Amino acid sequence: MSKKMKRRDFMRNSAVAGLAIAATKSEVTGFPMILTQGAVKPLVVSSANGNRFKNGGTLTAVQKAFTMMTEGADVLDSLIAGVNIVELDPLDDSVGYGGLPNAEGIVQLDSSCMHGPKKRAGAVGAIEGVRTPSLVAKAVMENTDHHLIVGKGAQDFARGMGFKIEDDLNTDNSRKQWLEWKRRIDPQHYLDPKKRAEAGHKAALEMYALGLLREENLHGTINCDGINSRGEICGVTTTSGLAWKIPGRIGDSPILGAGLYVDGAVGAAGSTGRGEANLYNLCSFVIVEEMRRGAHPKDAGMEVLKRIKNNTVEKRLLNSRGLPNFGINFYILNAKGEFAGVTMYEGQSFAMCNENGPQTLKAEGLLQGKPTD
Ligand code: GLY
Repeated sequence: MSKKMKRRDFMRNSAVAGLAIAATKSEVTGFPMILTQGAVKPLVVSSANGNRFKNGGTLTAVQKAFTMMTEGADVLDSLIAGVNIVELDPLDDSVGYGGLPNAEGIVQLDSSCMHGPKKRAGAVGAIEGVRTPSLVAKAVMENTDHHLIVGKGAQDFARGMGFKIEDDLNTDNSRKQWLEWKRRIDPQHYLDPKKRAEAGHKAALEMYALGLLREENLHGTINCDGINSRGEICGVTTTSGLAWKIPGRIGDSPILGAGLYVDGAVGAAGSTGRGEANLYNLCSFVIVEEMRRGAHPKDAGMEVLKRIKNNTVEKRLLNSRGLPNFGINFYILNAKGEFAGVTMYEGQSFAMCNENGPQTLKAEGLLQGKPTD
């Protein structure tokens, strides 16, 4: 079957599914929903890896999420089923199984999810042994009074919920990368902690400059947000966090308002890139608040990028031009179905899926050049 044919089928199926929704009840409220003219067009937006990895199947994350959503599944269930593809794919070494491990060679994962209509959220931080932390985050949301469970407690919780716990989520690739990093920073094994931290940062930047690592490996993550034809908005973010982090380090991904924020009446925003820069500014929350005041998703995203740039003053975080030496990206949609992908340095892309099928689009950049220039 030709590519064109497949796309036509996808559009037809999506359209048929969209019509089917008109006759269904809201998954959330239970009230019958009628699609009127001007109803929101369903849409899924994500980081670029959401339209790259298929884990040996036929659909990328955004395609899977969009298909399920337009067939009437709950928006959050659809988004999580999408990111599960990336979490389980060993080829993405920034998320889930095969994610680059911490400084001790252990894969620790972070994830959060938010359900706009239900106004509920869940998250896990530094969880070990579960390939799909996004599903554990959802279990936190559904089965507890809490928003965030971390470390061994998160693993015990997952075990109790029936998740399979594995001894080691490394793949040959993630272990090889970790060993290379270790060899570079700690040949004697006995550097003092300060030198070790400096050497670790330097080694990672060297590997980045040599093309052994991409920025998305260092802080790689997937964020995926969606809105269905009923205007129901949800989001999920999942990651293995910063490569070779200090064990127990939790980034922005599981922190509501940082790696993800959803307000069902306004929109959703999520992030990939340097988590610490996001945490300091709680950018996803700020983006949603900017949109509440009427800003377009792109302008709201640009506003937080400027804030991050202005709040980055430490020399170790600046390049030779005095600009941030790291990347950070935001994926945003609002209740009207408008969307944007924005990035600190131009040249990044993001993924989107609507009735025309999945697309990888250029993100709007605040700065030109490279973070390392
Ligand atoms: N944004 C992913 C992290 O910093 O952990």
